[in-house]
Amino acid sequence: MTSSDFWDAETAERYDETSAFMFAPEVLDPAVDFLTDLAGDGPALEFAIGTGRVAIPLVERGVSVSGIELSQPMVDQLHKKRADIPVVVGDMATSTMPGQFSLVYLVWNSIGNLRTQAEQVACFRNAARHLAPGGRFVIELWVPGIRRFPPGQAAVPFHVGRHHVGFDTYDMATQRGTSHHYRRRPDGTVTYGASNFRYIWPAECDLMAQLAGMHLEQRVADWNGGPFTNDSESHVSTWRKPV
Ligand SMILES: C[S@@+](CC[C@H](N)C(=O)[O-])C[C@H]1O[C@@H](n2cnc3c(N)ncnc32)[C@H](O)[C@@H]1O
Repeated sequence: MTSSDFWDAETAERYDETSAFMFAPEVLDPAVDFLTDLAGDGPALEFAIGTGRVAIPLVERGVSVSGIELSQPMVDQLHKKRADIPVVVGDMATSTMPGQFSLVYLVWNSIGNLRTQAEQVACFRNAARHLAPGGRFVIELWVPGIRRFPPGQAAVPFHVGRHHVGFDTYDMATQRGTSHHYRRRPDGTVTYGASNFRYIWPAECDLMAQLAGMHLEQRVADWNGGPFTNDSESHVSTWRKPV
């Protein structure tokens, strides 16, 4: 039984529109370049493939991509755009896709959808299970913004605009949190949506990779390869399965 929130049909239908900024070429192209290089001649597997934001351009670059995705409505949206990408509907911590892959990747903070440490460790193990010897597991993940919490403050805004206000609330004891979104529609009505996550530090990720028999090959701040520093708010990390 997964702890993940379920992405329903309404969310799936609106996903590409509400995530339009993540489809912008300046955001997406560096990710696709990075992953194309790492896939090399081998096939790639995307955990939490969603509607194919990253998978479809990778396929268009000639990479063979499969996916594992919990939400059938998200897969339906993907297959409306490209029907030839194989997807297993299931939990990325436990579900398997036949084959061996040179690259398994999990982007846009999606490991946080698994809300227990045990499931996150299982996810790393599942990635390692799918990799050919020498294959790589890549994660794109934010660094928890805990330094933004002055004592007594309950929430941290991550976007404040005319059409959208978003903020996170955290529970430090469990490393769990919720992202809250208030969106104003063109007719002036406001909708509320929330998603739940468990945050992980980069060092905890390395330990999970170690438990899964992989070692850190590279950690950069973003898909452009910027250096990861004390002040980085995200990381793109690559772990490798021994040859
Ligand atoms: C932020 S979206 C990312 C989708 C896509 N990778 C992208 O970059 O656009 C998160 C996705 O994770 C999926 N998801 C959440 N929990 C999951 C789980 N336990 N196993 C597989 N997919 C999961 C959701 O259904 C959703 O499609």
